[in-house]
This record gives sequence, structure tokens and C-alpha cells, in this order.
Amino acid sequence: MSGSGKKVVVGETPVYLDTRKPLELRVKDALNRMTVEEKTRLSYADGRFSTPGCARLGIPGLMYSDGPHGVRAEICWNSWDYAGWTNDSCTAFPALTCLASTWNPSLSKAYGTAIGEEARYRHKNVLLGPGVNIYRTPLNGRNFEYMGEDPFLAARMCVPYIQGVQENGVAACVKHYALNNQEHWRNHIDVQVSDRALYEIYLPAFKAAIEEGKSWTIMGAYNKVRGTHAAHNKLLNNDILKGEWGFDGCVVTDWGAAHDTYEAAMYGLDLELGTFTNGLTSNSSLGYDSYYLGNAYLQMVKEGKVPMEVVNDKAARVLRLIFRTAMNDNGKLGAMSNDSHYETAYQIATEGIVLLKNEATFKGESLLPLSQGKYKRVLVVGDNAIRNLMQGGGSSELKPKMVITPLEALTEKLGKECVKFTQGYVAGRPMFDRADTFSQSVIDSLYTAAVNEAQKADLVIFMGGLNKNFQQDCEGDDRKTFQLPFEQDRLIKGLLKANKKVVVVLTRGNAVDMPWLKEVPSVIQSWYLGSIGGKALADVITGEVTPSGKLPFSYPAKLEDCPAHYYGEISYPGDGIRQEYKEDILVGYRWYDTKKIKPLFPFGYGLSYTQFEYGKPVVSSSQMQSGDVLEIKCTVRNVGKVAGKEVVQLYIGDEKCSVLRPLKELKDFYKVTLQPGEEKEVLFTIDEEDLKFFDDTQHKWVAESGKFKIYIGSSSKDIKGVVEFDYKN
Ligand code: BGC
Repeated sequence: MSGSGKKVVVGETPVYLDTRKPLELRVKDALNRMTVEEKTRLSYADGRFSTPGCARLGIPGLMYSDGPHGVRAEICWNSWDYAGWTNDSCTAFPALTCLASTWNPSLSKAYGTAIGEEARYRHKNVLLGPGVNIYRTPLNGRNFEYMGEDPFLAARMCVPYIQGVQENGVAACVKHYALNNQEHWRNHIDVQVSDRALYEIYLPAFKAAIEEGKSWTIMGAYNKVRGTHAAHNKLLNNDILKGEWGFDGCVVTDWGAAHDTYEAAMYGLDLELGTFTNGLTSNSSLGYDSYYLGNAYLQMVKEGKVPMEVVNDKAARVLRLIFRTAMNDNGKLGAMSNDSHYETAYQIATEGIVLLKNEATFKGESLLPLSQGKYKRVLVVGDNAIRNLMQGGGSSELKPKMVITPLEALTEKLGKECVKFTQGYVAGRPMFDRADTFSQSVIDSLYTAAVNEAQKADLVIFMGGLNKNFQQDCEGDDRKTFQLPFEQDRLIKGLLKANKKVVVVLTRGNAVDMPWLKEVPSVIQSWYLGSIGGKALADVITGEVTPSGKLPFSYPAKLEDCPAHYYGEISYPGDGIRQEYKEDILVGYRWYDTKKIKPLFPFGYGLSYTQFEYGKPVVSSSQMQSGDVLEIKCTVRNVGKVAGKEVVQLYIGDEKCSVLRPLKELKDFYKVTLQPGEEKEVLFTIDEEDLKFFDDTQHKWVAESGKFKIYIGSSSKDIKGVVEFDYKN
């Protein structure tokens, strides 16, 4: 039953150590030399963020780190406390929602490369990111770590990130597979979803991460799917991931997501971390052998309850991962917080910021961009202008080596004498599992001070939004309301009464209610922008950079409009045991379009300081047959006064189908840079794959003959041109 446990002969390089030899040969050779105990030992942790190799054979173990916005500070070996090192700070990159808002895959590649270099430098073998769970409800505490509501956008943006990370010999770990679309009850909620919604909405980004990005690891989620925990779920792991997608890497648990030895062994789990089993309830006990894939697994193997092929398959996967990372002598040493990493973080931050509103209410002029010297007294109000937004949020928390706050950057740009700051509201400490409460007198005095200052100012910039506190943009639970916290709505209204010239900048990873929207002339959607975020924001506000970000999710006008909430509690958050994704495939704009519900801001939306004029789109043929490729061309011209970037979006709609289909779906996009007066032609190609839906009766993707429409737009709502064609299968 066990391997031969052969000794290594001195003077001879065994095949498994010879990096010139093919990977599979090395894996096979190592496996042949290992005992069954050594093989099973590969599959569970020996520290909070580590798993062992095989010391007898000189095979090192693996070191893991969060992910996904920077390399996390060192955690103690056997507890969740920070280790208190002084050399573990990093570059904080913008949150993945911001990356998605750039709609720029080349920035995604740069992000992956830079964070991969930092992970390599810190001797991390597995970087726990990117996250690609679909934005289903604006209450989800972790949306800020994900890439929005559209599977195509998330897929296109996650692939280059993964490739960039792995070029460094560091494994990406795409997470949280799958259907971890809320934090509330995340450890046990049992998600019921149709095959169609699974394949069309919730899986494509994971599929792209595996098939195109070739991610070496994937993280099994906490929740249940159709009755079984996701981390050891036959459908997700054996049938889809390792079966349909041919995944040859490792399924890693989320920390503590394993719940059963037999299921873990048989249903595709390869690496178990963070478990709190009996005897492991305290953080200090070194009880790794009591993990589900620990002694109990070995016992089952010895009793013949788990076949040896399963053991060999798991061990082979872990060895493959070790050879790809810890034993990858690609000569790369990595790099930490260098100029190029900061430049990457800055570029992503500037391109991700979304201008939501900029009305020309003041004698035909809008407040933004704010030209330097125009206003003598600029009042900055709000906690997010000075807060370290890398703190809190859960596992994505970072210890940045350097942070430029928006207040610092604005003060530097506009001058000390011009900028005044007042906090306006009190926002609490970022504590896991707990939220601060405040006395009304503190709230009122900050409010009054801000409103008084606003009366004296020429312009007010309010910098608020959510933060990384518990029950906001934070792991472990969801937001409790759609409203802004800390009485910010009242404050914004108070500021508006005191001064008409108010720019609202909201930092967050989620849509929020905006009851004051009509009265505020200019609104900016900022995300968690990372180390250089303050400068990026100041540069966009002052017009040094023209905003070009587009929303990666729709903003509902009210929470009940949102598809997950429309069907009541059983759909979100569930009844405490189960939940049903009743909106099915109609997630995000697919819902608003099809149900004709007007969102506050649509998916793909974002303004610029310049204007773009679209030509009429032209399609290469009005007929398509199986195997054909159609070309769609469209010109875009910058007709404004400053250089800018526009995201040209291509959606396809099936006019008539035997099943319900969304009005249209994103199938391609392209970001163009245009100087004033410049025109460019954008060329898209589509083929029959772009026309298909997942037919759950046949379990395959199908395109039905008939008429299709191609929509070219500047957002999912702002459609600039439509062309039609007939498809024959
Ligand atoms: C999170 C993961 C994270 C892991 C390790 C879990 O609580 O859900 O995303 O990678 O902890 O910190």
C-alpha cells in the first residue's frame, strides 16, 4: 500500500530534485519514494499559514499569505496574532473592485506581477487571491475584495493577475470557490442555485482562472452548496473543477472550512488549513494531527476506506505545487515596495476611480476638475480623508510601508493655506467581530463643527463612505443596512445647507443609498485605493488625471430593487440554514435590463472630464454560421478638450430563445486612450461561443438559431449603436 520509502543515494541527483526534468516525472519519482504516512502528511497544516513537505527527501513545505491586495504582515506560527516583525510591511495595492473598475487587463497583469514579486521576496509560496465571487448584494461585507457582478469582466480581469503572480514562482489561489456571495452565515448557509446560474454567472471567472490563468491553487469556500460544504463538495471539486476543467493543482480549504474526514478525502480537498477541530478549539494548541486530513485520514487509508489512488492523487497535487513554487529555482528573488510597485498601485488607483456625477450647475461650469488656485478656502470633511483604510476588513488587512492620505495629497496640491480639515463624523476602530458605538453628543459636536466650517469655505470636499470596520466592508458579516453609516447622510445634507458647492467622494467597495444625490453637484466613487490612493484621488479631483473608471456593478436605486433582495429573505440572507438564489441568472444589469428597473447608476457607467462621440457600429456580415467569426468595428472620437480614456463595451442579446435570457450580456470591451480630437477604430470579433446559454437539460452550452443584437455602449444603459445578425447553427 505504501511507497517504497527508498533512500536517496549520495552523489546521484534524484529525478524529483532535478528541475530540468519534466514536472510529472519528478512528481512520480517523489511519490515512488514516499511512505503512505509521508504522503498523507502533505495534506494538512503545520502552522497557521504553512503546510509541510517531506523533510526526509529534502522537499520543503509551503508558506501561505493573504492576499489579495498586498502581502499581509507576518502572523504568529500557531495563533492569529500578528508576529510583530519590523520587516514585513508591503505595498498596499488598490482593492480588487478598483482593479475591476479600470477595465484594463494590462493593469491587472501589472498588479499580479508586482504583488507576486512582493510575495516572492517575502518567501511566500501561495498568495491567497484573487477573489472572484460575484457581486450579488450590496450588503456583502467582502465585495470590495471581488471583481463585480459580471462573470465576463471578472474573468478577463482575474486571468492576467494570476499569470503575473505565477510568473514569479508564487501560486495564486483563486477564491472562494464557490457561491460565497455573502458573509452573513458564511460558515453554514446552504446555497441552492440552478445549474444555469451556476454555469453562466457564478463559475465563469473561476473557470477562466483555472483554464486560462492556470491558477495552481483554488480555495474552497466556507458555505455549503446543495447540502455539502464547498471545500469538499463532489459537484464543485470532483465533477466540475477536476473533471470538466482538468485542474491539476490543489484545492486549499478556506481557514477552517473542512468539516469531515471522509468527504475531505473523497471530494477533492487537497490541503487543509485553519481547522478548529475538537482539541483545537484554542489557538494555542498544536493539534494539527487532529485535523480532518490528519490522523483520521491516515487511519481511513490504512483501513482501506479511502483508496490509495485518492492518496496518490492528493499527494501528487501537493508535490506539483511545491515543485512549481517552493522548489522553483527560476532565479527570481522578488522585490519589495519599489518605485515600479508604487507606480503600478498609482496607475490602478487613478484608472479605477469612477466619476459618478459632475453637473455644470455653476454658471455652466462643474465643480470638477478643481483647478488649482480657483478657490481660496477648500474644506475637506470626513474620516476617510485621513484614515488608514488598509486596517480592518479581515484577512485582507495590510501593513503598508507607506500611505499617502487624500488630505495629505490635496494639501500638497492646493497648498496648506488653502486646505482646512474637519472630521465631521466619528467612525470607530476596525475591530473584527465588534462595532464601536458613540454618544450622540460626540456625533453632534463633530457635525456642528463641520457645518460651521462649511459656511466659511468656498468649496467643500466630503470624504466619507464605508470603512473596514465590522459589518461594513469587512469579512465575517454583512452590512446591516443600505445606508451610509455614522449619520453621514445627515452630515452631507447639513453641509449642503451651509454650502452649495459640495463634492462628495465616497470610499467603499459597495453601493450605498444616496438620498442627497439630486442636490450634490459632483460625486466620485473612490475605492480602497492602497498606498498611493490619496495622490490618485487628488490627481483626479484636480484634473491632472482624467477619470476613466467604470462601475463593475450596478447601483440599485433602493435595496428592494436589487435582484437578491427582491424575493425576500429566503433569497437573501436565507432562513439561517438554506438560501435560494431565486433571481437565478438575472444578476446585476441582467436583472435591471430584463425587468426594466432603472438602476441609480448602471453597470459599466463612469463619466470623464472629456466627451466621446461614437460612430455607427458596422458588422462584417448580417449572417453567422457555426464556425464563423464576425467583426464589429466602431469609431470613437474624443470631442472634448482634454485627453481621456473610454471603455467601449460590447453586449450581445438573443432576440428569441426557448429559455429566458437576459436582454443583453457583456461579451467584450476595450479601453482606448484618446487625445483631444483624436479618433480610433475599435475592432471586436465574436463567434458562436458568444451566443450560447447553458442548457441544463443537455448539460451543455447551446446557441439557438435566430436573430441576435450587438449593442455597443459606453455603459450597459448608454448604448451608442446596435447591429443585428442572423445566426444558423
Ligand atoms: C478568509 C480567506 C483568507 C483566510 C486566511 C479566511 O478567513 O476567508 O479569504 O485567505 O482566512 O487568512
